[in-house]
Amino acid sequence: MELKEILRFADDLVFAKTGKHLDDLQQAILRETFQGQKYAKIAQERNCSEGYIRSVASELWKIFSDVLKEDVTKTNVKSILERARFYNFSQTIASDNATVNNFNICSKKSQLPQVTQQPQQTPTRSHIDLGDAPEIFSFYDRTHELATLENWIVRDRDRLIALLGIGGIGKTTLALQLIEQIKTNFDYLIYRSLRFSPTPDAILTNLLQIFSQEGEIPQAIEAQLSQLINYLRKYRCLIVLDDLQMLFSSGQLAGQYKSGYEDYHLLFKQIAEVCHQSCILLISWEKSREVAKLERVNNYVHSFLLGSLGVAAKQILRQHNLSDEESWETLINAYQGNPLWLEFTATTIQELFRGNVSEFLECNECDAPILCESLQAQLDRQFQRLTPQEQAVTIQLANQTEPVSLPQIRKTVELSTSDLLNAMQSLGRRFLLDAKEQGKTSFFTLNPVLQQYVKNRFSH
Ligand SMILES: Nc1ncnc2c1ncn2[C@@H]1O[C@H](COP(=O)(O)OP(=O)(O)OP(=O)(O)O)[C@@H](O)[C@H]1O
Ligand SMILES: [Mg+2]
Repeated sequence: MELKEILRFADDLVFAKTGKHLDDLQQAILRETFQGQKYAKIAQERNCSEGYIRSVASELWKIFSDVLKEDVTKTNVKSILERARFYNFSQTIASDNATVNNFNICSKKSQLPQVTQQPQQTPTRSHIDLGDAPEIFSFYDRTHELATLENWIVRDRDRLIALLGIGGIGKTTLALQLIEQIKTNFDYLIYRSLRFSPTPDAILTNLLQIFSQEGEIPQAIEAQLSQLINYLRKYRCLIVLDDLQMLFSSGQLAGQYKSGYEDYHLLFKQIAEVCHQSCILLISWEKSREVAKLERVNNYVHSFLLGSLGVAAKQILRQHNLSDEESWETLINAYQGNPLWLEFTATTIQELFRGNVSEFLECNECDAPILCESLQAQLDRQFQRLTPQEQAVTIQLANQTEPVSLPQIRKTVELSTSDLLNAMQSLGRRFLLDAKEQGKTSFFTLNPVLQQYVKNRFSH
């Protein structure tokens, strides 16, 4: 690429960010840096100190770093500008009325420009394709959760968000409510469940068909991915991919892709790292490894752990015509505010106790949650995904009445230290383990409902 062309591109970037063109010194620093010149030499030629050149240059690298969301330094500035120039696309930066044609610019998060689509590219109405999403009949509370997710998606323009939590806690319901709440901000809103483990090729083809019904869909995964990224740049899309855990191997540590599914890693990594104006919301029982890694280094990646529905779960109990409202909070706490667990239990209370909650609670002498058959079956599905080592740890933890530290667990479980640590980390990534700090030590407890499940299952 010609030097003149990169300089012009650099000037456009600086103008879009600061409203000012490159001055003579900045141009000279760029030109000479591209030619491998040292700061000392540039300073000498201009009769100024090396420190001054260094500070002007570092100001310039900072502007590029902010705009391009990459750490730009003297050594990589040329290649980063060339690459950014190469991945160009048409858009108008409206924030300061600076039009930067054919350049792909992602401005700093807090000052994100409003991207105005070319009129012929913008659908007049949002295109909503929810596939086989369940219909939501009632929705309670989750005000804070909705506000946080909306902020990340609409205000901060996150590219990749993981909505995580134990089965039944309400992830799908929350995501669908969120779509309803923020749909006017998007050109495309898409929901797909991955429960039947579609291959990366199948899901990419399916997504590409939504954007272009008649267009040709490339065969190679790289080409499919690059076509998808182009759509994510051209349109503002929210794509929800639910049941991500079905892409991970059962019987292996959390978040390991099944064989043949590793390209999903590439898909999510690209979506997080490449500049575009869309967001992918991943829903899962297990934290994926790339999200765990990316969220530490990429401002556009977040994960959200969904917890108890809290007192709003009373409305679920009301819907099930339960009585004896003073005991409802005890019931909600016993089932950790998990809406699905409460729905299962409420059905049992209705069928066996005529809806009387205290009678149900009293029939249990040892204060441990009673697991009805459907709840047991739901926990079976989660427990069966654990490795033998994780299962061994849960069996030991299920027998504990107090939180235990790692050295204490080591004494009781016959596992090598690394197997034990991997198992503990994996259980944490499945949200089945609670950790609390006391002094400098972490103490662990098993999710109380799972604890009861393990006791029931292994005590005979
Ligand atoms: N905020 C809510 N208000 C009312 N009902 C809810 C709410 N959240 C969840 N539910 C109900 O709880 C049940 C489980 O919710 P949902 O299917 O969303 O959980 P999930 O976390 O997606 O579970 P899984 O991981 O197993 O797919 C559903 O019947 C749903 O209607
Ligand atoms: Mg779900």
